[in-house]
Amino acid sequence: MTENDAPHRTGAGDALTLPAPTVLDPATAPGLRWGVISPGHIAGQFTATAHRATASRVVSVVSRSLERAEAFAAEHGIERAVDSVEQMLAAGGLDAVYVASPHAQHHALTRPVLEAGIPVLVEKAFTLNTAEARDLLDLARAQGVFAMEAMWARFLPQYDVLRQVLASGMLGEIVEVAADHGQTFPADPSHRMFAPELGGGALLDLGVYPISFAQMVLGDLRDLAVRGTLTETGVDAYFGLLAAGADGGSARLSSTLLSRTPTQAVVNGTAGSAHLAGPFFAPSTLTITLHDGRRAVFEHPADRGDGMAYEIAESARRITAGELESPLMSWQDTLSVMGTMDAVRAELGVVYPGEEPQ
Ligand SMILES: NC(=O)c1ccc[n+]([C@@H]2O[C@H](COP(=O)([O-])OP(=O)(O)OC[C@H]3O[C@@H](n4cnc5c(N)ncnc54)[C@H](OP(=O)(O)O)[C@@H]3O)[C@@H](O)[C@H]2O)c1
Repeated sequence: MTENDAPHRTGAGDALTLPAPTVLDPATAPGLRWGVISPGHIAGQFTATAHRATASRVVSVVSRSLERAEAFAAEHGIERAVDSVEQMLAAGGLDAVYVASPHAQHHALTRPVLEAGIPVLVEKAFTLNTAEARDLLDLARAQGVFAMEAMWARFLPQYDVLRQVLASGMLGEIVEVAADHGQTFPADPSHRMFAPELGGGALLDLGVYPISFAQMVLGDLRDLAVRGTLTETGVDAYFGLLAAGADGGSARLSSTLLSRTPTQAVVNGTAGSAHLAGPFFAPSTLTITLHDGRRAVFEHPADRGDGMAYEIAESARRITAGELESPLMSWQDTLSVMGTMDAVRAELGVVYPGEEPQ
């Protein structure tokens, strides 16, 4: 076949132009007064990012230990430090609460916040299982209160550009989504990554990113084929997942806590592909390559350390507008992702304390 016969080849001078991101600068979102529950690693990043890159302020922090709450408050310039959610809620003055405990505690810590009528942003994985997620979202609906899973990746500019590329049909029909997320953790049965009572395993902490990415592109994942291995503590150490997307196309996903993997995501279509450089769930580089030879790159436009600012801004805009959820990470999206994770665990035989074996 000569170059002239190639069906999609365009002239060498043709440029590929990507849609501009529609995401607004997080600094322009309304500033909310936040409470933070569970001041661990990610709560520190959330608070520092909110204060650095948005108009929101963390004004209250809850730890199981008053000493830890006070230390966190001193570090971040937070007005109030308490050792129970009830005290935080009784003091009032909050526009929203961010829940950053291990997954197994998300449900119990979020429920009283919703009962008090306060909007919530809950770390991923939203809960341990679908039943807990449904309970919280039913409560949010009944209370007329905003709730969202803090799947921060979905609010990043590169995801916005990717969604526009997909909607434009530039990649043709979507054939496959492939994504991996592996990190290494020293084997420690008491660490939340290994402890069943803290919702341990790769799936809920790391695997939730590839699954959520595939769900965003392909819709609900169906017809799952799962293989994996377990840790000595009985949580998943590795899983590989093949699935069909409700909107067409297939997913090929993996996650592990035994190896640091490239953490890349790819969407392959009949006319081209989209590649998110690792780590694909953080501010990174989106490359679109079409089969006709054209290529374009989108780079994260701001300070890469401010990635969490986009979910804080999205929450603030929706809450201020009186909305209950975000279309970028809807309640249905959370339930879909949780359903896939339930199904993966059922295949692997991972059952958390208090759950019925499936
Ligand atoms: N968005 C992201 O990029 C990202 C990154 C990492 C983690 N995460 C998510 O954030 C959550 C927390 O992760 P992390 O890495 O921040 O964990 P972490 O550093 O272990 O902090 C979690 C905090 O929760 C509290 N906690 C621990 N065990 C608890 C229990 N049994 N009951 C109630 N509270 C408990 C502790 O605070 P006190 O003892 O002071 O109360 C602890 O500092 C997880 O759901 C994880 O998936 C998100």
